[in-house]
Amino acid sequence: MSAMQGLLRRSASANGYSPISWSSAKKLFHPASAQRYRCGFVRSLTLGGTFPRSQPERPDLRAGDYKFSKGKYLLSSFCSSSALFSTFPTPTKQMANVPYLKLNNGKEIPQVGFGLWKVTENTADVVYNAIKAGYRLFDGAFDYGNEREAGQGVKRAIDEGLVKREDLVIVSKLWNTFHEKEHVEAITRQQLEWWGLDYFDVFYMHFPVALEYVDYNKKYVTGWQNLDGKIVQSKATIQETYQAMESLVDLGLVKTLGISNFQGSLIMDLLRYARIRPALLQVEIHPYLTQVELVKYAQSVGIVVTAYSSFGPQSFVELGWDKAADTPLLFEHPIITPLAKKYEKTPAQIVLRWATQRGLAIIPKSNSPQRLAENLSSASGFDLTQEEVDSITALNKNLRFNNPPDYLGDLYIFA
Ligand SMILES: NC(=O)c1ccc[n+]([C@@H]2O[C@H](COP(=O)([O-])OP(=O)(O)OC[C@H]3O[C@@H](n4cnc5c(N)ncnc54)[C@H](OP(=O)(O)O)[C@@H]3O)[C@@H](O)[C@H]2O)c1
Repeated sequence: MSAMQGLLRRSASANGYSPISWSSAKKLFHPASAQRYRCGFVRSLTLGGTFPRSQPERPDLRAGDYKFSKGKYLLSSFCSSSALFSTFPTPTKQMANVPYLKLNNGKEIPQVGFGLWKVTENTADVVYNAIKAGYRLFDGAFDYGNEREAGQGVKRAIDEGLVKREDLVIVSKLWNTFHEKEHVEAITRQQLEWWGLDYFDVFYMHFPVALEYVDYNKKYVTGWQNLDGKIVQSKATIQETYQAMESLVDLGLVKTLGISNFQGSLIMDLLRYARIRPALLQVEIHPYLTQVELVKYAQSVGIVVTAYSSFGPQSFVELGWDKAADTPLLFEHPIITPLAKKYEKTPAQIVLRWATQRGLAIIPKSNSPQRLAENLSSASGFDLTQEEVDSITALNKNLRFNNPPDYLGDLYIFA
């Protein structure tokens, strides 16, 4: 048994789960489901019952999934995710069949969330409809300029009884111009007010770069430049900013801290002084920028990695960036399209499944109801083989699209 398997076993046992072998899983569950539970675990296994196909609480699961199971939410699987413990949530949390990832502070997040960057039209409706479709995590930021509207969508869903606040994981980020310790609490309270919330579930440091303070009343969205249109760094260190963010947790304004666009050595340094360990790292990851070592390192120190811009060039084509326009689209790639055909999935679902099978959380953004539903359902129901995962990982070109020097001159943060 590998060290990771041992750890998973101990973790499962501590959470009241029992090991289940691949052969037992095949006997106990619908064949399609058994695949998901190979080398996984089940809780409260009781022989004798089969829920009817019309199981009202979980219309998303087939009757076979519950064969021989008397309890309600018994199943857990982490065999296809190399990293951390994941469970299928209770229906109050989420109707769609999305696994949850356990964080190092004991909290859980859905493995698939909804990204809010560039959601600029009808944002409240988009968020409301995404909740209706089953999304429970929303990845926002001051920089996206839509926090008030996103909050309106959340409020409507809560007021109509679609969800409760505690079912949702609302994520936001501290922008670069608010890194000095005296600005951190004030801007976080302002962002919460825009959302209409008392707390953020997750709050990231958006970039490890501190820029001169800009009053958002004078310029919103602030962007990277000051009021004179210049990019001016401030003297705040990452340590100063992170410690100010830890105070947000003490104040109850934030439940979980995250870091974004950080690389290995910076994380190592942060872990030396962090009183509250960051639970999440959000970075650009797609088949052209696989970040294998960064993911391995973060996971080895108990940090869950969230991939952004999972579709590689796609997100930046809509910004009209040459680098993206000059890169073959992943959705047409000869490694991806045959897999889509084989599994009867879309190329987007193959790209997302490659990420979730690496244990990554994903936050694809889509303005289309059909595509956002497709993205939500990508993290379960089928597994790529390890060879197929590897063949996609081999597409790596270390090609970073969200690279500030490409659009800001000389801010070489990833140099
Ligand atoms: N921390 C950071 O610095 C950072 C940076 C960038 C992004 N992010 C976060 O990550 C989220 C996702 O990244 P992203 O917005 O860059 O890009 P993305 O989710 O990789 O790609 C979005 C693009 O893909 C299209 N798309 C979505 N689903 C599709 C599907 N199933 N089939 C075909 N096309 C599809 C979208 O078009 P349609 O809308 O027309 O479907 C859009 O053009 C952001 O919204 C944001 O929350 C964080």
